[in-house]
Amino acid sequence: MSTSELIEKLPKAELHIHLEGSLEPELLFELATRNKFSLEYDSVEQLRKAYVFSNLQEFLDIYYIGMNVLQTEEDFFDLAAAYFQKALQDNVRHVEAFFDPQAHTSRGIPLRAIFSGFKKAIAAANDKGMSVYLIPCFLRHLPAIDAVQTFVAMEPFLEDIHGVGLDSSEQGCPPSLFVEVYDQARAAGLKTVAHAGEEGPPEYIWQAIDQLKVDRIDHGNRAMEDSLLVNRIVERKIPLTVCPLSNLQLGVVSDLRDHPLRKMLDSGIVATVNSDDPAYFGGYVNENYLHAATALNLSDKDIVVLAKNSFTGSFLPDASTASHIADIEQIEKELVSRS
Ligand code: ADE
Ligand code: ZN
Repeated sequence: MSTSELIEKLPKAELHIHLEGSLEPELLFELATRNKFSLEYDSVEQLRKAYVFSNLQEFLDIYYIGMNVLQTEEDFFDLAAAYFQKALQDNVRHVEAFFDPQAHTSRGIPLRAIFSGFKKAIAAANDKGMSVYLIPCFLRHLPAIDAVQTFVAMEPFLEDIHGVGLDSSEQGCPPSLFVEVYDQARAAGLKTVAHAGEEGPPEYIWQAIDQLKVDRIDHGNRAMEDSLLVNRIVERKIPLTVCPLSNLQLGVVSDLRDHPLRKMLDSGIVATVNSDDPAYFGGYVNENYLHAATALNLSDKDIVVLAKNSFTGSFLPDASTASHIADIEQIEKELVSRS
């Protein structure tokens, strides 16, 4: 079996995907027309050509403009349904999906439109055998009080979410600013994750672990600069949701061959592979596995470990995780019997 066949065949969970980052230019144009929203770009091709970034902020500037076309419940449904369809094609069986409520409420879009649209798309994905958990993220470039107010506003929807996260511009916006809202989220029984160490220093990862008490770190690349931190992540089995193509497109690594994923696995970190914002970075989850495997010369065994980690690192109940891992072990047996 070739590497790409193995990747396609393996059941996977995707733990780091921003639904708004799955807004493909074609759908973006369709929604702009539907909502009579005028775009600066004349065509899908012209828009795609603008997707060249040298850092996180350059991406975020265009990402927040793109999501202006999302206005109605139907738009949020279409967005999520399109992503779930792509994920199903990649044999993704479970998704923990991020979205940015403040990027929509700040434009006057009601939370109800967002949640209703997503929930209808999730019900359809569930019918096709895929489980989905929603994780709203707080925008860290906004004041922490805004995050607290957003969390209060989400009270009617707490049943519909599994956790909260922290994203957007990292440098200069440390996790320590968000202790209050994370305490509230944990008290409400939610899981917590935070983007840290994508561009920001190892210190931000320490803060996410020690002060926000997160269950998982998103990216975490720069943990590898601090051996004590690596020890902490390994000891506590804190999963990292790694996004190879995103890291390449945003200049976090200049070449995928320099990506820390292999070192993470070798250190015993529960590293997982994810797509982050696939419409902007050139690939959904299987493409991320394939590019990482090729650049880092990952073995079939490494790839199987990554697929298993995606479930171990998820917030699924133990019995579901065990059942997905048993399916992966079936494929592992086929690999062994062929070699
Ligand atoms: N929002 C969407 N994608 C992001 C990323 N890679 N880092 C921080 N915030 C984001
Ligand atoms: Zn992200």
